[in-house]
Amino acid sequence: MNTRMLRDIQVSEVGMGCMAFSHGYGQIPPENYSIEAIRNAYGHGCTFFDTAEVYSPDLSGIGHNERIVGKALKDVRENTVIATKLMLHGFGFGNVYRTVRSHLEGSLERLQTDYVDIYYLHRMSGIPVEKVAEAMGKLMDQGLIRGWGLSQVDTDIIERAHAVTPLTAVQNIYSMVERDCEAEIIPCCMENNIGFVPFSPIASGLLSGKITPQTQFEKRDDVRNWVPQLSRSNIAGNQPIVEMLKAFAERKGATPAQISLAWMLHKYPNVVPIPGSKNKERIIENLNASEVTLTEEEFRALEDSLNSLKVYGHRGLGGF
Ligand SMILES: NC(=O)c1ccc[n+]([C@@H]2O[C@H](COP(=O)([O-])OP(=O)(O)OC[C@H]3O[C@@H](n4cnc5c(N)ncnc54)[C@H](OP(=O)(O)O)[C@@H]3O)[C@@H](O)[C@H]2O)c1
Repeated sequence: MNTRMLRDIQVSEVGMGCMAFSHGYGQIPPENYSIEAIRNAYGHGCTFFDTAEVYSPDLSGIGHNERIVGKALKDVRENTVIATKLMLHGFGFGNVYRTVRSHLEGSLERLQTDYVDIYYLHRMSGIPVEKVAEAMGKLMDQGLIRGWGLSQVDTDIIERAHAVTPLTAVQNIYSMVERDCEAEIIPCCMENNIGFVPFSPIASGLLSGKITPQTQFEKRDDVRNWVPQLSRSNIAGNQPIVEMLKAFAERKGATPAQISLAWMLHKYPNVVPIPGSKNKERIIENLNASEVTLTEEEFRALEDSLNSLKVYGHRGLGGF
């Protein structure tokens, strides 16, 4: 698979979001299946794996997903880039380094490794970002992390953090139907040589073309029940985008999910999407987006169509 740089860290051009093996999209698969799915992805050329300490069934407990990723990749650890995230809740500012380090130690143990490649702050929570950046800088000096990142942040936070300890990557929501980051955030990352890692790049499945207004989501631990973009009326409203994408994909001999990923890869050199799936075949399908190249003309046609079609609803910031 092609590779890209997230600042100074080389990764496969499409990564793998591992969250759904633990949380967010209904019933989780048996652990052996998830481990095999991750190993298959690695065997297919994927070297970039995304997890977080909070990814556990119903978001209760800590580390379910990190444990799976750790088990799956322990034998090939040095060939992979593992990104995980910590969540900080209110505490005294004086202890930021100690607290961040203690979260990291938990992740290292669960991931069965002695370093994390990219360590993200999952959400801002009132702690000055400079304090977090300073702590991350120390952890980098100690060799416990290779780089660091922020998730779901704006340019003010990015610039303040980057001035203290250069950021490796920003992980924000971004897809064909969630394009706010194009205005300032992605350009800011490009100017500062910061990688941009889109989460929910297939719009939680909407851009695969497989979701219709009749689709029943699972009852338990499935974020699609409350993602505003996936309400019945918004799914219906967004059908023209889905239909445009399906027709384009058919002409190109690719799938809609692949086109939605190939589009962002074409658009920006610093973007590395991390599509999520708990299905082995769809994981490989998504990784194969790296083989789908768009001509400039095809890309322009997609852009023109997207610019002319109204997007109904946002994904919303619930879900991690
Ligand atoms: N930083 C953050 O706050 C944050 C928030 C959310 C997610 N994330 C990360 O980003 C990753 C991806 O985000 P996401 O999982 O929310 O959204 P996503 O990748 O846009 O979509 C995942 C959904 O799309 C379906 N899907 C994926 N590929 C498909 C295909 N080729 N054909 C048909 N359906 C397909 C999956 O169903 P199946 O499982 O049935 O294939 C799943 O329901 C997560 O795994 C996680 O690591 C980070």
